Amino acid sequence: MTSKKILAALAGEAHEVPPVWLMRQAGRYLPEYKATRAKAGDFLSLCYTPDLAAEVTLQPIRRYGFDGAILFADILLVPQALGADLWFVTGEGPRLSTIDGQADFDALKPAGAVHDTLSPVYETLRILTGELPPETTLIGFAGAPWTVATYMIAGRGTPDQAPAHALRTGNPALFDALMDRITEATILYLSAQIEAGAEVVKLFDSWAGSLPADAFETYAVAPVRRIIAALKERYPDIPVIAFPREAGRAYAGYARATGADCVALDNSVNADWAAREVQCDGCVQGNLDPKLMITGGQDLVDETRRIVRAFSGGPHIFNLGHGITPEADPENVHRMLEAIRG
Ligand code: CP3
Repeated sequence: MTSKKILAALAGEAHEVPPVWLMRQAGRYLPEYKATRAKAGDFLSLCYTPDLAAEVTLQPIRRYGFDGAILFADILLVPQALGADLWFVTGEGPRLSTIDGQADFDALKPAGAVHDTLSPVYETLRILTGELPPETTLIGFAGAPWTVATYMIAGRGTPDQAPAHALRTGNPALFDALMDRITEATILYLSAQIEAGAEVVKLFDSWAGSLPADAFETYAVAPVRRIIAALKERYPDIPVIAFPREAGRAYAGYARATGADCVALDNSVNADWAAREVQCDGCVQGNLDPKLMITGGQDLVDETRRIVRAFSGGPHIFNLGHGITPEADPENVHRMLEAIRG
């Protein structure tokens, strides 16, 4: 038995009042986050300064009492640890050196080198294990290989991931080598996060939905299955949440195919359909439209209650369908919690 509701849900327990946390819960909608980020100077310094990264991880727990605390870091730290240049342009997003051909791949570091760069992240987790309330679950994470590859190839976020699709179909040998390198690095990174205190890990496959059906198994399912199998071999009890965003009908069967204990649903998925077709295989998480955290009102309350009801027959962790945005009203988070917890 565990007093941690998120771990209980991941083990298959249904709750009348589901546990809750939010993607991007530490972020620019919170004034205390902006203050700590200003102290750090820039986003990457915040990620690599364990005291400050632990502080921003704890801020939403103090303010809202969420059941889960997600490590403060970014999925793009892995490319950086593999030797890519990484910087963030204010108001625009991430920029990285690109992978255009074999020479760019050959310049990357071996997977085993990632700890040299990422060890401050492990220190953040060690600090958090001593500071979180006993009922709060500590969640580690990484990007899934396909999503990480899309950023490494294009050097930025793209609306359609065209550069990654072009490499995938135009030079599959190089693309597969890159996917392998990211997969190996991710196994090492998540293993070290677990050693440092992460009680659950989550894989973010934000661009899974852009893969055509015939490539979804190869690039969204197989690498995630390989990571989960490697983690479970070393840490049989560690639960894994996976988020194949915008997978559509491919959400059905995804948990069975990958071995994930919980599937995170985006907000385009119909909750009643997901209760039948996804929750039948285990825990589900997510689905509330993040825009409701800006607009609030009765719609927020109604939608929150509708999702709680739709998933009330099985294990469920309440969350948004994507990250909370900088424009969100912090008061709306209280309204959502009130609608869940009463
Ligand atoms: O959820 C959390 O609170 C934990 C920390 C976290 C961040 N990014 C912090 C962050 C997590 C889990 C992520 C995941 C992440 N990062 C994803 C996958 C989830 C998703 O959103 O689809 C992706 C694709 C990234 C890459 C990334 N990082 C982008 C595209 C951007 C720029 C867009 C933006 O929101 O500014 C970031 C920056 C980023 N990562 C911020 C935060 C709090 C904002 C940086 C700032 O403070 O200026």
